[in-house]
Amino acid sequence: MQYGHFDDARREYVITTPRTPLPWINYLGSEAFFTLLSNTAGGYSFYKDARLRRITRYRYNASPLDGEGFRVYIRDGETVWNPGWQPVQTELDRYVCRHGLGYSVIEGAKNGVTATQEFLVSHGDDCLLMRLTLRNDSAEEKRLDVFPYIEFCLWDAMDDSSNFQRNFSTGEVEVCGAAIYHKTEYRERRDHYAVFWCDRAPDGFDTAREAFLGAYGSPARPAAVFGDGCTGSLAHGWQPVAAQQHTLTLAPGASVRLLFGLGYIENPRAEKWERPGVVNKTKAEAMMARYATHAAFDAAMEALRAHWDSLLSAYQVRSGAEKLDRMVNIWNQYQCMVTFNMSRSASYFESGMGRGMGFRDSCQDLLGFVHMIPERARERILDIAATQFPDGSAYHQYQPLTKKGNLAVGSGFNDDPLWLIAGTDAYLRETGDWSILDERVDFDNDPSLARPLLEHLRRSFDYTRTHLGPHGLPLIGRADWNDCLNLNCFSSEPGESFQTTGPSEGPVAESVFIGGMFVKYGRAWVDILRHLGQTGEAGAAETDIAAMEKAVLTAGWDGAWFRRAYDAEGRVVGGAECDEGQIFIEPQGMCVMAGIGAETGEAATALQSVEARLDTRYGIVLLQPAYTRYRLELGEISSYPPGYKENAGIFCHNNPWIVCAEAELGHGDRAFAVYRRTAPAYIEDISDVHRTEPYVYSQMIAGRDAPSFGEAKNSWLTGTAAWTFLSISQAILGVKPELDGLRIDPCIPADCKGFEITRRWRGATYHITVDNAAGVERGVAAITVDGAPVPGSLIPPAAPGKCVEVTAVMG
Ligand code: BGC
Ligand code: NOJ
Repeated sequence: MQYGHFDDARREYVITTPRTPLPWINYLGSEAFFTLLSNTAGGYSFYKDARLRRITRYRYNASPLDGEGFRVYIRDGETVWNPGWQPVQTELDRYVCRHGLGYSVIEGAKNGVTATQEFLVSHGDDCLLMRLTLRNDSAEEKRLDVFPYIEFCLWDAMDDSSNFQRNFSTGEVEVCGAAIYHKTEYRERRDHYAVFWCDRAPDGFDTAREAFLGAYGSPARPAAVFGDGCTGSLAHGWQPVAAQQHTLTLAPGASVRLLFGLGYIENPRAEKWERPGVVNKTKAEAMMARYATHAAFDAAMEALRAHWDSLLSAYQVRSGAEKLDRMVNIWNQYQCMVTFNMSRSASYFESGMGRGMGFRDSCQDLLGFVHMIPERARERILDIAATQFPDGSAYHQYQPLTKKGNLAVGSGFNDDPLWLIAGTDAYLRETGDWSILDERVDFDNDPSLARPLLEHLRRSFDYTRTHLGPHGLPLIGRADWNDCLNLNCFSSEPGESFQTTGPSEGPVAESVFIGGMFVKYGRAWVDILRHLGQTGEAGAAETDIAAMEKAVLTAGWDGAWFRRAYDAEGRVVGGAECDEGQIFIEPQGMCVMAGIGAETGEAATALQSVEARLDTRYGIVLLQPAYTRYRLELGEISSYPPGYKENAGIFCHNNPWIVCAEAELGHGDRAFAVYRRTAPAYIEDISDVHRTEPYVYSQMIAGRDAPSFGEAKNSWLTGTAAWTFLSISQAILGVKPELDGLRIDPCIPADCKGFEITRRWRGATYHITVDNAAGVERGVAAITVDGAPVPGSLIPPAAPGKCVEVTAVMG
């Protein structure tokens, strides 16, 4: 069952009922000011950091769902309704929500009035704009009272939701004409405030929540809306809000448009005040002036479209398969950009108060957005590398606002260092910008320890090389990619963090997965060294990689698949001898992607085992059989009920590893079959089972051991976005940036007759036509560049600005 449909021409998902199984959200903003917006106009805004600069309040895990947002109440005689249905939930005559790229439009109609809310965050500016259009489609004159309403957050979202003894006394506002200023704590150490405004002078306002909603009122039944209107309250302490009342008369057929805004303003300390106690509004007034006209709003929308046109034009496919094109050309890339902006901080599943930027997460996200924003990817790599310790290990997270490593989740996740090579390698392949390796980057955020980025990569490689266990496999430390496989944790007390409890660096527990990573990204390191002419070091690294490959194929091989790990007692994890957790997906994906066992057959056998043991109709589960009881020696993985999350859920992030692995072996049919099983556009018609947004990937789909098999959770912020984009754009469609050229090497279903791709790469544009009349799964028989045949499948970089015609004939 569907709750809407895609509109590819407008690059929108069109939701046709407000009663989606869960709020279906969109992200507005791509630089500093962000808004999460649901299909009923729920959500919240923040500036840069969802915890430390929260502008509006949002109550997670509340009932009813999705209570706070950017709501407009319309009072038409006896009827009160919202264009987005929530929170009053008056049945609408018509409803539609269009989530587009960086904007959303919500339209509702009731009793002959149509109300349209258009939302966007102006590109390069620090404000949310909302235009409200009201149209009287009835034959009578309408007198409407319109009430916009938002609830301010007292900035630090964590403190705001816990420190009530202080916070009920600090709230402050100023009202000046059609603008409401939220200035809590501005009197002391903050030099920022928020401003809510309208381009029309309101007929009333409220800034105290109690006055607008009523002491025991709720957003579903605000006292002001259902009673006598706004009261002109000024908040002192308690809960500052911005509410206005606009009384409008609309002749039959007439319409009116109101422009609202919510802005974030910072003032230099010396210029905070206009006069004692009165905030300096100069910048706010300038912001309001920038968006004072409908032409300005339209221009902001146009600028947004142009921005997204330019980003997405770096990779466009025309395959004739509608669902594939919409994933590749629009939604998968869009989600990659959202993970660039948000990492794992703020979604409807991530509260914005927990995690900062993850080291491994951010490195992997790079793989999905580096082609769109190489300059910002460069900056990101340098930021991440600066949180590496001198021994090559890393802070597991850093704060976006300060860019400093944060020890809340500690370090010692032994996969982290190698992801830095993965991210940097992707950047080098994309840009050819070797100068990044000479950039001096701090270790441990300490400028006195700064060394060139190249040295950071060296230490990443060396960290793994020098932290091996009894079988010559890498020590796992606190965990590897699977944060829940905690082999050195042994937590028995409720509430202890699985990620920080126990010795971080057990001397025995080993990870086969990191072994696979070492081979894959070690080879990337070798290629970088060879490119730099450092052949001695490259040769030595190759020796280490060969030894690792051998260790993986012996101690890491179980007979029909790759083992997962060895625990702190040296026992096998992920082998046939285990009673549960016999086979895991991660080492099959990573080791085969690394090319391990490709020639000797283990790779193919491992993938057959994945298909035989882990496949389900909704995707590939992480492990089988699921753990049915808590195991002290394995940690969080066994804390989840069977079928959820890392305990045999369909963890979408590593499904594309299997896609890439299958493609590595030339299995185009299987690679695409795995790809499409979790690709949102392909499973839109099971939205009632899946429940999360049908236009983006979720982190997890409940596995077959779970009662809710097929139900997704944790939509939007997941490394799935980057990896699926990599799997489809490079492994399947086969356009692969390499250090010295663009390789064309598709691996597709045999019945795919061909496709066209436009790829912007290093400043040139490549129009690539792939012809598969031969009906093969892999293999390029002939390539031409601008009509001339070239040997092999690698196209050398063209001069920036050039348009290059490429044809590839498979066979
Ligand atoms: C989740 C993991 C996540 C980790 C982050 C765990 O509870 O299951 O998916 O990586 O938290 O710390
Ligand atoms: C989500 C985390 O963000 C990521 O770092 C981790 O690799 C996966 N969960 C698997 O545990």
